[in-house]
Amino acid sequence: MKCIRAAVVTVSDTRSLEDDISGNELVKLITAADIEIAIRRSTTDDLSEIRDLLASLCDRQDLDLIITTGGTGFSPRDNTPEATFAVIEREAPGIAEAIRRETAGSTPLAMLSRAVCGIRGSTLIVNLPGSPKAVAECFNVISGVLSHAVTLMRGNQPH
Ligand code: MTE
Repeated sequence: MKCIRAAVVTVSDTRSLEDDISGNELVKLITAADIEIAIRRSTTDDLSEIRDLLASLCDRQDLDLIITTGGTGFSPRDNTPEATFAVIEREAPGIAEAIRRETAGSTPLAMLSRAVCGIRGSTLIVNLPGSPKAVAECFNVISGVLSHAVTLMRGNQPH
């Protein structure tokens, strides 16, 4: 299995990379999982800005994984799920279902994340909520299957 190359995308009207605590948490967790962070970006909560950023990152064709943090809730400016739906070609609902199911025991607020996961080309996009605590809880649910998922997306047989 070759190294997984990932992008971290922080979605927020108020945070930038300078004070991005959930993005920093995500970088720490991804690095600890032996995944290479090839690129890090931030965007406002504008649907079109998120959509265009996600599409352009996927279309580089050198990223296996994009993990977003933020913008998945119920407030009017939470647009990350809609932007993700707009760019994916195949939904991966099992990942979002597992995150909500497995973290519901730690907080009932898990049900307030509308996070979406799916594939564009050979890049998997995973939405996570926007707090450092949520990022840690949710990433821990999926970290064990990412290598297998990437192997399959590359058209290879897992061992
Ligand atoms: N999921 C987990 N595991 N842990 C959390 O603390 N916070 C919830 C939810 N999912 C949370 C979580 C809250 S409070 C909200 S509002 C939604 O995610 C959406 O968060 P976002 O709008 O920052 O993406």
